[in-house]
Amino acid sequence: MNNNTRENFGSKLGAVLAAAGSAVGLGNIWRFPIETGQNGGAAFIIIYVACVFLLGIPIMMSEFFIGRHTQTNTAGAYRKLAPGTPWKWVGRLGVLSGFIILSYYSVVAGWTAEYTRLAIGNCFDGKSAADFPTIFSAFVSNPWKSVLWMVAFMLITHVIVVRGVKSGIEKFSKVMMPALFVILVVLAVCSIMLPGASRGIEFLLKPDFSKISGAVVLNAMGQAFFSLSLGLGCLCTYASYFRSDTNIGKTALNVALIDTFVAIMSGFIIFPAVFNAGYAISSNDIGPSLLFITLPSVFQQAFGSIPMLSYGVSVLFYFLLVVAALTSTISMHEVVTAYVSEEFNMPRRKAATIVTIACSVVGVFCALSFGPFADFKLFGMNLFDLFDYVASNIFLPVGGMFISIFTGWYLDKKLIRDEITNNGTLRVPYLRFVIFILRYFAPIAIAIILLNQLGLFSWF
Ligand code: PHE
Repeated sequence: MNNNTRENFGSKLGAVLAAAGSAVGLGNIWRFPIETGQNGGAAFIIIYVACVFLLGIPIMMSEFFIGRHTQTNTAGAYRKLAPGTPWKWVGRLGVLSGFIILSYYSVVAGWTAEYTRLAIGNCFDGKSAADFPTIFSAFVSNPWKSVLWMVAFMLITHVIVVRGVKSGIEKFSKVMMPALFVILVVLAVCSIMLPGASRGIEFLLKPDFSKISGAVVLNAMGQAFFSLSLGLGCLCTYASYFRSDTNIGKTALNVALIDTFVAIMSGFIIFPAVFNAGYAISSNDIGPSLLFITLPSVFQQAFGSIPMLSYGVSVLFYFLLVVAALTSTISMHEVVTAYVSEEFNMPRRKAATIVTIACSVVGVFCALSFGPFADFKLFGMNLFDLFDYVASNIFLPVGGMFISIFTGWYLDKKLIRDEITNNGTLRVPYLRFVIFILRYFAPIAIAIILLNQLGLFSWF
């Protein structure tokens, strides 16, 4: 593939916002607050932040320099750095993970779009708590609606990806990410000002060290991986569009800080409102029910005394989810599109079309697994849950482990040093620490999570 024809991000800010857009997604707004609330509040946040810094940032830096150095898609990157070896399979596994995650993530993303439509149409007004489970189950089990929204979401993603790196992905991220921050802060302020908000903040932040166990540490690591979009070459692909003067360490730090900030702010939106409305957080809220059953009802009750406010909060919240999901689906689509286009020498538009069609077909099965295919189960899970389990609990950690082994053991140290210091022009005092983590800490820690998740090893 001729590198001269490859586009780059136009600015460093654009590159950071695009990568942060990939990282910030449904994982931050819905999964993080619940995990935190249930796993010891601030105690969990401390462990999560430690995982982000000790595992997340070094692996993100690896993905960044592999991508920027090779200037190609993630599978091509390993082929270039380790020709004739099986390392290319790490990249290919990443592409497969991107394909699978995009297929089921778009289903939930489609739900956020339907809920934005319902919020705009003021359809939650006057509904009681008992109505929301019915609204949700009627929607997801309706084969047409959830399939159509999934396909619609895939098409919007497609349109942005086809426009290219600079005028599609970068431009969209530069507009949408600041919009997302503004919405996040406005919603958090509304929620914190509610009467009784302090109980929600306490639930989120009060450290309860007695809840910390091996399982909680493992959850924190898994959450960090998914939330930072690590292990499947998303960030490697984006970094292949970085300019040569991008500071890799600083970019990784910025992306991790933005991602963590959004996650914590989401907790400040959700819990004060939930406690104000007198809800108890239960283990049922782990699934999509928090976003689509509990919260619409919570917003009605918490802000119901001023109808315009409950309307505004609902619309903004679901729109926030749409934006967060979209910047993530774009990054997954790009991993697969860059691979198909470059490895099979195909124009970008044609590659993107193939990816959109193929993911939509698989997405249909995922969407229908809440309706007509609900009884079709493999290993006791419906297709949607199976894909989620396999991709995020197995493929991402395996990918991350191999990325750290590849950089820590296979790659030449000089190449790593040159990349991280931009050929000696940057002073990077933590370089040896990063290499130590990639060589020893990351592979061992991830192997422990994995074996534990597969039930092959029990640590506690
Ligand atoms: N990081 C995204 C989120 O938090 C999900 C994601 C995973 C995106 C893997 C890209 C790759 O929702």
